[in-house]
Amino acid sequence: MCTDDVADVLLSPEKIAARVAELGRQISADYRGKSLILVGILSGAVVFLADLIRAISIPLELDFVAISSYGAGTRSSGVVRIIKDLDESVEGKHVLIVEDIVDTGLTLKLSYLVDNLNARKAASVRICALLDKPNRRKMEVHVDYVGFVIPNKFVVGYGLDFNGLYRNLPFVGVLKEHVGGGVN
Ligand code: IMP
Ligand code: MG
Repeated sequence: MCTDDVADVLLSPEKIAARVAELGRQISADYRGKSLILVGILSGAVVFLADLIRAISIPLELDFVAISSYGAGTRSSGVVRIIKDLDESVEGKHVLIVEDIVDTGLTLKLSYLVDNLNARKAASVRICALLDKPNRRKMEVHVDYVGFVIPNKFVVGYGLDFNGLYRNLPFVGVLKEHVGGGVN
């Protein structure tokens, strides 16, 4: 069981559900009467996004992008590329980017995407992230909606992975040290 590798549960399924419901209410109020499109960043955001859209009561469209840094271990290089682009045009639409976690900000993923979507004439571009680790920030990224501010620990679950695994855990937790857990 992958739960055996977890040392500590930071956010229970109940706590996550309550916060996602709040975010959904807030987003519904903020975008009422506007054409809203949620753009999920694959793959980490999918679990959060699936719950978030069902907490939003206004009409919305859904699209996805996949973005990668060039090469392995180049998180700090800041070179990014779109691996999977949007299926639909965002021209004239209000875009809400949905991300799993904002950590150092160094992949430039978010600022790159914001610039890219603005260039495609989106009416507005904002960011919603489930988790924020502000202590780790090395590059400024403005996050408009944050689910939870968390301490400087590597977390998994609810979409977040370690080496591709643990995305299916229903909570957000810290791995045991021998599996790779602890401070990043
Ligand atoms: P950064 O903001 O450029 O450091 O990169 C953020 C990305 O790194 C996120 O989209 C995640 O995919 C990954 N990441 C950062 N911190 C964590 C974590 O604690 N657990 C799992 N993935 C993480
Ligand atoms: Mg990852």
